[in-house]
Amino acid sequence: MEAPPPLLLPFLLLLLLLASNMATAAGDGCSAGCDLALGSYYVTKNTNITYIAQLFGFTDYRLLAKYNPGLPNLDDVAAAGYRVDVPFPCECLARPSDPASTYLAASIPYKVVTGETYASIANNYINLTTADWLQATNTYPPNNIPDDATVNVTVNCSCGDARISTDYGLFRTFPLRDWDTLASVAATRDLSSPEQMDIVRRYNPGMDGATGSGIVYIPAKGDRKTITIYGVF
Ligand SMILES: *[C@@H]1O[C@H](CO)[C@@H](O)[C@H](O)[C@H]1NC(C)=O
Ligand SMILES: *[C@@H]1O[C@H](CO)[C@@H](O)[C@H](O)[C@H]1NC(C)=O
Ligand SMILES: *[C@@H]1O[C@H](CO)[C@@H](O)[C@H](O)[C@H]1NC(C)=O
Ligand SMILES: *[C@@H]1O[C@H](CO)[C@@H](O)[C@H](O)[C@H]1NC(C)=O
Repeated sequence: MEAPPPLLLPFLLLLLLLASNMATAAGDGCSAGCDLALGSYYVTKNTNITYIAQLFGFTDYRLLAKYNPGLPNLDDVAAAGYRVDVPFPCECLARPSDPASTYLAASIPYKVVTGETYASIANNYINLTTADWLQATNTYPPNNIPDDATVNVTVNCSCGDARISTDYGLFRTFPLRDWDTLASVAATRDLSSPEQMDIVRRYNPGMDGATGSGIVYIPAKGDRKTITIYGVF
């Protein structure tokens, strides 16, 4: 067998490197998305459910009720500390700077108000996205967002992975807060057996040691199909 031509070797190494990077985020290198994923929105002070619903494109907050069967009256969640599940389609998108680089995310149109920045926009979404990620997924340069622009608010999501388990079809994008860890969040969602924890870890490569920052994907009860029958999209 002949040795590979000199240029081929660096190329192969590059491919390997790209492949190992892809393994680090759930949806990287996707080719398809799914109809539904959820975002876990942590309710802070001075907000209300109407405002939260609007951030995700819902004119009527009552549409969120079926995704939050465990919450008391939705009108009362303005109390800080609740988490509201917000539904969105999870699409396979590409970076504007590199169409070959795909990822799974919701892309929520956001009408900017004069003077807003990627940081101020990201702030409204309480760690479901970041200023850097908005900059990477929108074409406007950070210091030049037009006054009347619509920015895509990009929230990473997961559609699961049949190679890991076919038991779960619906996933919640969950920003870790304060002392939250992957295991503590899974436990509060009734996923605490060793078998379930093993699956949750495999959906979240690299996040096992994280505390208080970053996003994890937690299987949600009910599967995608059952929930879409109620008909939102
Ligand atoms: C809801 O919150 C938004 C943003 O904080 C605020 O502008 C609006 O007045 C509030 N609406 C009600 C009914 O409290
Ligand atoms: C979303 O996922 C991409 C990788 O696909 C990652 O680079 C980015 O930091 C993630 N954004 C957030 C807010 O976690
Ligand atoms: C928002 O996303 C749409 C569809 O993916 C794209 O055509 C548009 O250019 C994006 N907007 C910005 C500001 O990047
Ligand atoms: C948002 O994330 C930062 C760390 O990245 C953390 O300090 C802060 O508490 C988080 N806020 C909420 C409301 O989750």
